[in-house]
Formats: sequence, structure tokens, C-alpha cells
Amino acid sequence: MLPFHNTVADDFTEVNDLIIRQLHSDVGLVENIGHYLIEAGGKRLRPLLVLLSARALGYQGKQHLDLAAIIEFIHSATLLHDDVVDTSTLRRGRPTANAQWGNAPSVLVGDFLYSRSFQMMVAIGDMDVMAILSNTTNVIAEGEVQQLINAKDASLSEAGYLDVIRKKTAVLFAAACEVAAVLAGGDATVRAELREYGLEVGMAFQLVDDALDYKGDAETLGKNVGDDLAEGKPTLPLIYAMSRAEPHERDLIRHAIEQGDASQLQEIVAIVEKTGAMEYTLNAAREAVSRALAKLTLLPDTPYRSAMAEVAQFALARDH
Ligand code: IPE
Ligand code: IPE
Ligand code: MG
Ligand code: MG
Ligand code: MG
Repeated sequence: MLPFHNTVADDFTEVNDLIIRQLHSDVGLVENIGHYLIEAGGKRLRPLLVLLSARALGYQGKQHLDLAAIIEFIHSATLLHDDVVDTSTLRRGRPTANAQWGNAPSVLVGDFLYSRSFQMMVAIGDMDVMAILSNTTNVIAEGEVQQLINAKDASLSEAGYLDVIRKKTAVLFAAACEVAAVLAGGDATVRAELREYGLEVGMAFQLVDDALDYKGDAETLGKNVGDDLAEGKPTLPLIYAMSRAEPHERDLIRHAIEQGDASQLQEIVAIVEKTGAMEYTLNAAREAVSRALAKLTLLPDTPYRSAMAEVAQFALARDH
């Protein structure tokens, strides 16, 4: 757990218990894969944002615990599917579920987690929450498909890239905050501000994730670096590097993207650094974090709000 989890430590204990209880299935393989992924940990940032947002708005009930578990289930489902699509073999410091059990069980257990999250949503019984989360999962799916179409396309623009990361990642952070605002009875302005805060944190989070694929290390990250290049993903470090590089360097990156070839990773990392593309990507994340922090001024000054500011800073400074 990261320091800012302590602000809602008791809530978190309950959420973790709830997650384990809700993983139940009569089918052993479903439980095995679910437990395997979820017990490996993960940073639990999205459920944390549900808890902090609800508490920051003075919410006193219990349903924020269910919402936090729901959001983590949706996230876990996307990870199971994502590792199949990205042919990744390491997640949370362990072999991925697809490496361990194969693609078919991973996809199907991902579907189980998605649909379990919808069962839990129905139990909450709030149409606004249902609307937000059903729209969110739909947009995430769309973003992942859009990214698939963009794979191996070295001409993708920065705007096209930003649109994908907003859809595949940022909207879930946004939804985590907005559903908490709905629960807490926040008005339209509060809902919108919290949603924007989450969206900006999510943008920063994915920008940094894409940077870490070129500068992180697998040991700390708990996942392999260079996976994005191997899939021919035109992420911002490469898009910006191509716009600044010498022609032969640009050709090297273009070729790697078009072929999905990570064999020149070290050379490409050097070009990304030399052209300032790493700094440019991290700066885009820094600006998103500033915008996120500005949204928090609407909230009363509480330890929960401070923790939300720390989460935003972590999205930028993280190495895992
Ligand atoms: C991984 O998210 C997927 C992305 C959006 C980059 P996290 O880095 O939050 O994954 P865990 O839950 O901590 O493992
Ligand atoms: C994550 O994108 C987006 C979703 C899980 C929907 P990545 O593919 O970059 O995530 P990691 O790096 O595998 O965690
Ligand atoms: Mg991936
Ligand atoms: Mg992916
Ligand atoms: Mg990644």
C-alpha cells in the first residue's frame, strides 16, 4: 500500500474483504484466476479514488465500499483482456494469467469479472451510477479497439494518441470519482469537477505508463518494458521523437512501429531521450496533474482532499 491509502485504511480493509467475497464462483477455474490476479495486489488506485472522493464530500454510508470493489473488478477485467491483446507475460511481478492458463480462460474470466461488477451495480440500484459505469466500460472497449486499429501506424498524430488514452484509461479514473460524487449527493458542478480531476489524473497516469515502457525497469514495474514497441504501438514518446529526430533515426522508429519489432529498443530509447521526447511526455503528464489539482480547490480542506492531491502527484512521479 502507498502512504495515501492510510487515509481510508479501515474502508480499504472492508473493500479488500468484499472483493474476495465477490469473487466467489462454483467454477473452480474462475476463482483460481480471479484470486491469482487480485491477490497479486496492484496499486488499487481506482478504488482508492472512489473512497477518497466519497469521504471528501462527507459521505457517511457504506455503498462507496461496493463501488470501490466494482471499479477494481472492472479494472481487473480490462487487465485480463489487455494482457491477451498485448501478448504480455508479466503483470504485478508474476506471469500473466494468459501466460499461466492461456488466452481463452483469461478472456472468459475477464467477462466473469465484468458481469460480476454489473451484478453488484444493480444491487446499488442507482440509475446515474449505472449510466456512468455502463458508458465507461463501453468507451474503454472502444478505446482498446481504436488502439488496435492504430497499431503499426507510424503516422498517428498526438491528438489521435491522446484520444485513445482518454478512452482506454482516463475515463475509468473519471468514473471512479464521479460515481462517488453521485453517492454523496453532489450537485452537477461537483460531479463535473470530480470527473475532470479523475480524467486528468488518468491521462497523466497513462502518459507516464507509456513513458515507463521506455525508461522503467521490469523488476520495479512488475511488468516487462518494451511491450508497447513489440506491439507496434505509436505512443507519445515515439510520436514526438519522430517529429524531432534525424531522418535515419525517424526511419528506424517508423520501421520498428510498422514491424512491431522491439529488437532495436536500446537505440530507440536513446533517440527518445536525445530528442526530448521523454521530457515532452512527462511534461504533458505534469500539465494534466496541474489541471487535476486545480479541480480540487472546490472541495473542503480535509485529509481526503490532501490524499487526492497526493494521488495526482503519484501518477506523475511513479516508477511502478
Ligand atoms: C495498469 O494499471 C493499466 C494501465 C491503465 C496502465 P495500474 O498500473 O493501475 O495496475 P495495477 O492495478 O496497479 O496493477
Ligand atoms: C492499459 O494500457 C489500458 C487498459 C488496461 C484498458 P496498457 O496496455 O499500456 O497497460 P499495461 O502497460 O499493460 O498495464
Ligand atoms: Mg498492456
Ligand atoms: Mg494495452
Ligand atoms: Mg503500458
